[in-house]
Amino acid sequence: MKYLKQTIDFLIILMLIASNATAQNINSSAETNAATHGKKISPDLFGIFFEDISYAADGGLYAELIQNRSFEYSPSDKDNWSKNDNWNSFTAWKYAAEGYGYGTISLETTSPLNANNLHYVVLNMEEEGQGGVGLKNAGFDGIVIKAGEQYNFSVFVRQLSDNAIPIQVKLLDKKGTEIGNASFSTQTKGWKKYNATITASQSEDSASLLIVAKAKGKLALDVVSLFPQQTFKNRPNGLRADLAQTIADLKPKFMRFPGGCLVHGDGLGNMYRWKNTIGPVEQRVQQRNIWNYHQTVGLGYFEYFQFCEDIGAKPLPVLAAAVSCQNSGGTWRIGGTGQRALPINEMKNYIQDVLDLIEYANGPATSTWGAKRAAAGHPKPFHLEYIGIGNEDKITPEFKERFKMIYDAVRSKHPEITLVGTVGPGPAGEDYEQGWKFADQLAVPIIDEHYYEKPEWFLRNNLRYDDYNRSKSKVYVGEYASKGNSLFNALAEAAYMTALERNGDVVKMSSYAPLLAQKNHTSWNPNLIYFTNTAIMTTVNYYVQQLFSVNEGDVYFPGIVSAPLSDTEKNIFASSCVKNVETGDIIIKLVNTDSTTVQAQVDLSGFGSINPDATCSILTGNPMAENTFKNPKNIVPKTVAFTAGKSFTYDAPAYSLTVIRVKTIN
Ligand code: AHR
Repeated sequence: MKYLKQTIDFLIILMLIASNATAQNINSSAETNAATHGKKISPDLFGIFFEDISYAADGGLYAELIQNRSFEYSPSDKDNWSKNDNWNSFTAWKYAAEGYGYGTISLETTSPLNANNLHYVVLNMEEEGQGGVGLKNAGFDGIVIKAGEQYNFSVFVRQLSDNAIPIQVKLLDKKGTEIGNASFSTQTKGWKKYNATITASQSEDSASLLIVAKAKGKLALDVVSLFPQQTFKNRPNGLRADLAQTIADLKPKFMRFPGGCLVHGDGLGNMYRWKNTIGPVEQRVQQRNIWNYHQTVGLGYFEYFQFCEDIGAKPLPVLAAAVSCQNSGGTWRIGGTGQRALPINEMKNYIQDVLDLIEYANGPATSTWGAKRAAAGHPKPFHLEYIGIGNEDKITPEFKERFKMIYDAVRSKHPEITLVGTVGPGPAGEDYEQGWKFADQLAVPIIDEHYYEKPEWFLRNNLRYDDYNRSKSKVYVGEYASKGNSLFNALAEAAYMTALERNGDVVKMSSYAPLLAQKNHTSWNPNLIYFTNTAIMTTVNYYVQQLFSVNEGDVYFPGIVSAPLSDTEKNIFASSCVKNVETGDIIIKLVNTDSTTVQAQVDLSGFGSINPDATCSILTGNPMAENTFKNPKNIVPKTVAFTAGKSFTYDAPAYSLTVIRVKTIN
């Protein structure tokens, strides 16, 4: 009994030592190992992860206003659990006979526009009446039209009867009143694209588009499209300007796309193939989105690369490791039918696809794939540096064999490309262990870790990377979130982000996930940015990401901030100090997740002369408060002037993130 008690006492002492070791901040091994002059950290630390989830692309960032423009929606676009059962070629469309006209519509496939776009509608006008016979599209829960703005309309038409058929296109407000129109006449019996510009006379949040034929006869219609001319940077086939700008305002250093689970897909046939997503939109191969809707891939690889360039983010495309999601045919909650692997005899072509992507992004405009990029309007390269292979895959022998084949081929043909591997869906567990073991064997340059955990986990695990072996693979924290949009959640993430900075020598990149969600069509919560057709709601988490991203540094300095906290209190407070070499600014971040003020001491005496006129941005409030569509600015940062000294005391308010930016004098 005596020995048992001694053993328990000993274990308690060991646990106390361990908990001291996990206590936050200034005495971690990453800190003590760092020279007092600072250590270089990754310049690409804070980026974004765009996944086409929760209508992030079609009906979201992609500015197309017509839903189901190619009549390619299908009942198999959703799974058994989806609430919306209305998935078919006529989703979002209605037959329209205006002014006592009559006729029929039918869905046909016999002479399609091309083999990738099989379905089209045939209109048979028996009597055109006063208003014509045709179709009306309701957009994605309505079409938003702004008075005075111009809209690019286009449609493919095949005239099936002998005489030319006049066609009228109208924008209608919700009462059916016309707020813009265009007309043209068919010119040929073959498929032909017709373009028109419509100027809106009035604003309307829930408009519809009517396309009617105004003479007896027969015609076929496909790819009915309506784009605002004012897309982000006015790109054709471009992005919704306000949403794209909200993302750009994060100033991300990189963008991972087009998704996580979306990439490896729900079974092999659903795997995301980048080649299907480039070229003229009417030729792209549309498919079911793993998140239970339809993806037109109108926002495809060209548009992703272009967006990265437009916002100054390095592209990080992720390609499947030639295996499908292990939860295919199920969900991550209930499991599924299991991972499927591409047959080995298909691997040669698959690997060639990966190599071709590099040529598409970086090859000269005279190369086979570089020429396709040039044809899309971008003769210069996109400067691809990173490629991700795999997403949260189960680390099976099939995965390993295929990953290695792809890895070896890319390394040998393109040593300039940095490959990012995967270690399962969580911060620990079998796939994490096996994934790291495998990464060690291959010496994969960067490994993508994911974790969706409670805020307390983020606070407790602040030292996670302090003891990572610096000689092994570097880390990309590719997906993380603390499962909520309250200030407290955001602060837990902020505290963790100070640790990412402290470990910015081993953590090369990080990105919150998911980025975007259409409020009324969420496949996943929480998200960083919520939107409707007319509004954008940036969460408190968004402001944390932004404060870190716009205040990123290249060099990390240990021991600059100290706070007199007991070991049990240390998890409540986190801090970092970085220097942005280009501006010379020193940036101090302080995160207090507790209900009382923490008095911190900041010592800048090692930095030479500093300008006392500094700025201080503070994000604080009720820890349970969130931003909402009704109150979108409930919790936002406030920036005020701040007088900095060589050494000063700062009272970090309860529940706050503070960023102090100090200029140095050379
Ligand atoms: O971010 C949502 C999903 O979470 C991603 O698709 C997947 O990688 C992860 O499980």
